[in-house]
Amino acid sequence: MNAKKASSAKVHENRGTPLVEMKDISIAFGGIKAVDHASIDLYPGEVVGLLGHNGAGKSTLIKILSGAYKRDHGEIFIEGKPVAINNPRDAKAQGIETIYQTLALADNVDAAANLYLGRELRTKFGTLDDVAMEAECRKVMGRLNPNFRRFKEPVKALSGGQRQSVAIARAIHFNARILIMDEPTAALGPQETAQVGELIKQLKAEGIGIFLISHDLHDVFDLADRLTVMKNGRVVGTAHTSDVDHDEVLGMIIAGKCPPNAIPGPGALRSAA
Ligand SMILES: Nc1ncnc2c1ncn2[C@@H]1O[C@H](COP(=O)(O)OP(=O)(O)O)[C@@H](O)[C@H]1O
Ligand SMILES: [Mg+2]
Repeated sequence: MNAKKASSAKVHENRGTPLVEMKDISIAFGGIKAVDHASIDLYPGEVVGLLGHNGAGKSTLIKILSGAYKRDHGEIFIEGKPVAINNPRDAKAQGIETIYQTLALADNVDAAANLYLGRELRTKFGTLDDVAMEAECRKVMGRLNPNFRRFKEPVKALSGGQRQSVAIARAIHFNARILIMDEPTAALGPQETAQVGELIKQLKAEGIGIFLISHDLHDVFDLADRLTVMKNGRVVGTAHTSDVDHDEVLGMIIAGKCPPNAIPGPGALRSAA
């Protein structure tokens, strides 16, 4: 192994306390180890891409962070403190929000109504305060996606990228510090994918940390600061995106081969050379 290269993988790691640290996480369904002693971390303003084939355990690992599944083993730290995340409410209380591929928007109402779904603002008379909700929605969208103009339309009329920005606005409006995006661009065309890229850059600038699950290598190379590859429930390795190339990452995904510039996990092929 190239000693100079190997040491460069460690150089960036001394960055203080991570925003999120998932340590030695395992969960099994029946006899199947969906996630097997996986560790990942995330710093403020950072995007960490989570890569791997279908069934690698990416969504399951992230669902443990969002409180959808309860882990069998392992610990979760937020800003260095161990936290109990046993349900989605626990996760939200820690500022963890998830955007699933389906977005879970209410199609027949507008952006503001989606922003406040289930948490509507009311006037002192107890009626819905549509004026305040729209004003707040314009403020959030102005920050996130200044070109957005379609405040009066039901979200089903919006493009995929616009819908994505409404879902993100809803997530961050309630003080998310940690955003999980599971395959955000899977159903989008190139132009809308670029729009999601712009949204992600804006969130980074605000110090939000993002786990970006994707099976698209290009998305991850474009958007992620670091990447972690999983295979068969185990972490193959973690690397700074700038320290590895496409072929090396493909080798991680397909063969479990950890390149010299990545930090190997328990799923790394032992005899890789
Ligand atoms: N609720 C569940 N019940 C049983 N098996 C599950 C469940 N969720 C995921 N799995 C299994 O766990 C493994 C990892 O799946 P998943 O996390 O969805 O992978 P990925 O997101 O990387 O495609 C797969 O073998 C999958 O079939
Ligand atoms: Mg998945």
